[in-house]
Amino acid sequence: NFYHHSPPAYPAPIGTGNGLPEWSEAYSKAQAIVAQMTLAEKVNLTSGTGWESEQCVGNTGSVPRLGIRGLCLQDSPLGVRAGLYSSAFPAGVTIASTWDDGLAYRRGYAMGAEHRGKGVDVQLGPVSGPLGLFPEGGRNWEGAGSDPYLSGIGLAAAVRGIQDAGVIACAKHYIANEQEHWRQRGENPDVPIEEALSSNVDDRAMHEVFAWPFADAVRAGVGSIMCSYNQINNSYGCQNSELLNGILKNELGFQGFVLSDWQAQHAGVATALAGLDMAMPGDQVFLSHNAYWGSNLTVAVLNGSVPIWRLDDMATRIMASFYKVGRDKTQVPVNLDAWTTDVYGYQHWFAKENYGIINGNVDVRGAHGALIREIAAKGTVILKNNGSLPLGRPRQIAVFGSDATDNPKGPNGCEDRGCADGTVAMGWGSGTANFPYLISPLTALQNKAYQDNTVIQWVVDDYAIDSMHNVAKQADTCLVFVKSQAGEGYLTVDGNRGDRNNLTLWSNGEQVIKTVAGNCSNTIVTVHAPGPVLMEEWIDHPNITAVLFAGLPGQESGNSIVDVLYGFIEPGRLPFTIAKSASDYGVKLMYEPDNLYAPQQNLTNALMIDYRHFDKNNIEPRFEFGFGLSYSNWTYKSITVRKTSAGPYTPFVGRTPAAKNTNVTESPSSLLFPPGFHKVAAYIYPFLSSTSQAGLSGDGEHGPADAYDPSGTPTRPAGGAPGGNPQLYDVLWQVNVTVANTGKRNGEEVVQLYVSQGEQDDPVRVLRGFRRVSVDAGQWTSVIFDITRRDVARWDVVSQNWVVSSAKKKVYVGRSSRDLPLVADLD
Ligand code: NOJ
Repeated sequence: NFYHHSPPAYPAPIGTGNGLPEWSEAYSKAQAIVAQMTLAEKVNLTSGTGWESEQCVGNTGSVPRLGIRGLCLQDSPLGVRAGLYSSAFPAGVTIASTWDDGLAYRRGYAMGAEHRGKGVDVQLGPVSGPLGLFPEGGRNWEGAGSDPYLSGIGLAAAVRGIQDAGVIACAKHYIANEQEHWRQRGENPDVPIEEALSSNVDDRAMHEVFAWPFADAVRAGVGSIMCSYNQINNSYGCQNSELLNGILKNELGFQGFVLSDWQAQHAGVATALAGLDMAMPGDQVFLSHNAYWGSNLTVAVLNGSVPIWRLDDMATRIMASFYKVGRDKTQVPVNLDAWTTDVYGYQHWFAKENYGIINGNVDVRGAHGALIREIAAKGTVILKNNGSLPLGRPRQIAVFGSDATDNPKGPNGCEDRGCADGTVAMGWGSGTANFPYLISPLTALQNKAYQDNTVIQWVVDDYAIDSMHNVAKQADTCLVFVKSQAGEGYLTVDGNRGDRNNLTLWSNGEQVIKTVAGNCSNTIVTVHAPGPVLMEEWIDHPNITAVLFAGLPGQESGNSIVDVLYGFIEPGRLPFTIAKSASDYGVKLMYEPDNLYAPQQNLTNALMIDYRHFDKNNIEPRFEFGFGLSYSNWTYKSITVRKTSAGPYTPFVGRTPAAKNTNVTESPSSLLFPPGFHKVAAYIYPFLSSTSQAGLSGDGEHGPADAYDPSGTPTRPAGGAPGGNPQLYDVLWQVNVTVANTGKRNGEEVVQLYVSQGEQDDPVRVLRGFRRVSVDAGQWTSVIFDITRRDVARWDVVSQNWVVSSAKKKVYVGRSSRDLPLVADLD
C-alpha cells in the first residue's frame, strides 16, 4: 500500500557531476578541496551552528584553514528577509500570474543579486511545495501556481536567475507539503500530535504532480533542495530514503545538496543514510543546544554508523554547488542580520558575543522597483470588464476598503507580516521581506488623480457603511479594494493558523463591495489575496463593471494597479481555478487531526489537482485556470502539427557512481576540541568533548545493510541525467499556431497549449506549453511549441518509468484551460 508505507532506497547516490558540462568543473574543484579536509571540517560544512547562533537564519560551520567561511542561508523566495535596504518583490502567485518565464528569470536574477550583495550564500527559494492542492493552503502564494507544469517552468526560471546572479538557489519544500496544520509537532500547543502529518501520495501523483516541478528545478541546475516538515507516506521528508536517495538523487539525477527545513531533521544516522546533506538550523529543536549532527555525526562516522564516503559526498555536494554558481568569486562578507534591524549587535546573537556592526545596511535594491512594478502589473488578472476599463480621465473617483490604504502600524508593523491591516501585498511567515516602502493603491490613485485633475475621495474604514453610501453616490468611478490573507503556520492571524479557514474575504469585504455596488453604477473591485476567493455573492451584480485579481504585488502595489486600471500595461492570467464554492475543489484540508499519533492526510485526488478536477467532473468554475481578459481581442487562426524523427524511448541502464571507500584515518583524540578553543555558548561544533564518545557504537542506530554499499546502485530506468532520462526531453512534435490581435490596441496574449493523453484515468487535459506574446493591433504572430515525450507520457507504477500510452492524443491551443479553439491530433 503506497499510501502508508515508503519503500527503502539505499545507498545514497554519490554526486560526481556525472560528466555533465554544467557541473563538471564545479565537481573537480569540490573534490579537490574536500580531499584536503579533515573529518571535523567536513562535518562542519554539513551541520548548522544552531538557531540564532550567527547572523543568517541558517549558518553552517566554516573551514578557516582552507579559507571557507560558514555559509549564510537566508530567506526568502520574494526578497532578502532581513533589514531594510532590500526589495519586497511580488510573491510567487503574482509572478506565476504573468505567465512570463523571461520575467520570472529577471525577478530571480534581481533577487539573487540582492542576496549576493548582503553576503548570502543560499537564498531559501523558490517554492513549489505547496503546489496548491488545497486552495486554502497557507503558503500557496509563495509558490508558482497550482499546476505542476506552470510551477516547473516558474521554478526553473527562478533557479537560473538566482544562480546566474551568483547565489545558490534552494527549491523547497520537498515534498507534498500542502498544508500548514500539523506540519510540525508542537506547533499547536493545544493539540499535542506526536508526529507530523503524513501526506500520503500514490506513486503516479508523486511523479506527475508533486515531483514534476522539482525535476525542472534539478534540470535547471538547482544547487540545493529543502526537504519538508511533513511525513510522506509515513516517513519524514528529511529521512525518506525513497524520496531523497531514490527519486531525487537517483531518478532525477540531482547533483546539489539536500538541506533540512528548520528542525525538520528528526534523526542523525537515519537522515544521513537517507540522503540528507545539511542539517538546519543545526540544533535538534530551536535552542535545544544539542544536535543530531555536529559532533554526533563525527561520532557516527568514527564508529561506522555513517560511512565516511557518505560524509564526503555531503561535503562535496555542498562545495560543488558553491563553485557552480561562482561563490568563490562572488562572495562578499555577510552584512545583514536575521534577528534585529539594529546596526550594532552581537554576531553570535543567542550567545551575546562579538559585538559590532551586524547590519551594514548596504542598499542592494538597484533599479528593481521598476521591475517589481512591471511584474505586479503584468501579474494582475482582469476577471470581468464590461467596458469600464481602462479608465480614461474620470471626473470623480471614490476609493473604498482598508485594502486600499496603509497599515496604521506601518508597512512592517506586524511581525513577519502576520496581520491583514491595511493593504495586503505579501502573505505572512518566513516567506516575506521587509518593505523598503509600500505604495498603497490609495497613494498611487491620488497621484494619478492629481495629474489628471480628478476629484478623489475615500472611505477606508471597512465598517463605515454610512460613509460609504454617501461617498459612493457622488462618484462616477468607485474603486473597491478587498483582501484575504494567509501564511505560515507558526503565526495565527484572526484565527487562521497559516491555512485560511475559508475562501471568503477578510475585513468585511463582501459587505463593502455590496454597499458600494448598491450605490455606484460603476463599481470596480480589486482583490488582493494569496489564492482564490469566492465571488458568487457579488460577481454578477450589474453595477460591478470590472473585477481584478491583483494577487500579492509587493512594494509597488499601488503603482502597478494604476498601470492596469488605466491600461498602461497588459494584464496576466489565473494560475489556479476560482470556484463557485469551496467544495467544488474536491479536496479537504485537514483542520482537525484524525488521530494524535500522526495525522493521515490521504491525497487521493492529487492527480486531478485544480482544473483537472473541474474538467474531469464537469464542474463549472467561476473562472477557470488560465483565464484572464486582455485589453485587446484575439483570434486563434490556425494550427499545424509536425512529427519529428525522435527515436524510441529506452530505459536508462547504468549505475550510480561508486564511492571511494576510504578508511577513517583520524584518531578520536585528533577530533577533540583543540586546546584553548573558545566555545561560543550553545554553538554546534564538530569536535568531541572526550574520546570515550567515539566508542558510542552500540546505540542500535545502524541502518539497513544496503546503505553501506559503496558500489552504488542501478540507475533507475527513468533516470540518467538531471531532470530524469534525457529521452524524456526529446521533442516528438512541433506545434505551430497563428494568433492574431484583432482588437484596436497593441496587446499581450498568453497562448496556452494543453494535451489530452487519452486514457480513461488520465486528466482530461494538462497544460504543456504557454507563451506570452506581444502583438500590435491588426497584426498576427506565429508561436511554435515543442512537445516532448515527457509532455505526453504517464508514470507507470509497474515499470517505474514513463510510458506513452497507445491512446489517441490531442493538442489544444487557446486562451485558457476552457477556451481552446484550436485542436489537432498528435499522431
Ligand atoms: C521554516 C520554513 O518552512 C522555511 O521555508 C524557511 O526557509 C525556514 N523556516 C527558515 O526560516
